[in-house]
Amino acid sequence: MQKFTLFALFAFIAPAYAAEDDSHIRTLAASCAACHGTNGVSQGGTPVLAGLDEAYFVKRMLEYQTQTKSTEAMAQNAKGLTSEEIAQLGKYFADQQRSFRFFQKHSLKKQL
Ligand code: HEC
Repeated sequence: MQKFTLFALFAFIAPAYAAEDDSHIRTLAASCAACHGTNGVSQGGTPVLAGLDEAYFVKRMLEYQTQTKSTEAMAQNAKGLTSEEIAQLGKYFADQQRSFRFFQKHSLKKQL
């Protein structure tokens, strides 16, 4: 019975925390959309962030923060982020679906 109460309590509290984190990260992610597309699905020449490996994402973001050679655009965008925010953005983008169009484009290229 006690286990059930604990579970019920957690199930009730956890989504509230998740929703709070989510909206902050979503706002941050929206600021990337201008260049990387909605939910990281870039339609132009900018790299697609959707479905990117979390560890790779974090590594790249830390490089943009620390390397003077990084592009102006990404240096500016990585500058103000905390390591916690970078980790959460990495998870957010890793969870996003790459669009069908993206796969289609690439599978067509392979056939040619
Ligand atoms: C003004 C345009 C612009 C904005 C806004 C922007 N980026 Fe970028 N981003 C770029 C460009 C251009 C590149 C590719 C060139 C480079 O590596 O700097 C890039 C590259 C990246 C890469 C490396 C991708 C790879 O495959 O190596 C990551 C990760 C990334 N951006 C994350 C972000 C995140 C997270 C945000 C929002 C906080 C963001 N970007 C906002 C322009 C932008």
